[in-house]
Amino acid sequence: MKSNIVLIGFMGVGKSTIGKQLAETLTMDFLDTDILIEERMEMTIPEIFNKYGETHFRNLESELIHTLKVKNTILSAGGGMPCFGENLSKLKQIGMTVYLKISPDKLAERLWVVRKKRPLIAGLNSVKELTNFIESKLKLREKFYDQADKVMDINGKASCEILEDLINFVNNLK
Ligand code: S3P
Repeated sequence: MKSNIVLIGFMGVGKSTIGKQLAETLTMDFLDTDILIEERMEMTIPEIFNKYGETHFRNLESELIHTLKVKNTILSAGGGMPCFGENLSKLKQIGMTVYLKISPDKLAERLWVVRKKRPLIAGLNSVKELTNFIESKLKLREKFYDQADKVMDINGKASCEILEDLINFVNNLK
């Protein structure tokens, strides 16, 4: 089996939180592509967007994913990463991809309070605006996300259930 699991999905779905828990439970390593980019650039994601713009950030994402060598790792991929260039096929080569899927309303609820740290949504002024943004972005992105090896609908699930589903998925791969 492939030795890595790659979590994909919209920002705010909980890839990093659940990814860390999964890694701990399965004694695997955990990596987050946003953090790797921040470390390489010695800048935060908002600083990178502000200084160089989104296109440059997407280039950094592609460069990272095409040079990353990992083993026994849960990798959380930035929300937009699978939707640009050849990144999705690269992510699929790295590991088994799992799309954590949740409704736009739930995403808006989660993202509203942390929006200032997310450059793509920092300037939105209401939950309604945020929900509209998520709906239209998801429409464009789901055709990529849906190509994951496993689509996991996490609507209405507690984090312990999501973790359990992921553990079962990983164990069934063996
Ligand atoms: C982005 C998602 C973020 C981060 C950047 C752009 C996106 O990652 O890469 O702000 O385009 O959806 P998370 O999904 O880890 O929040």
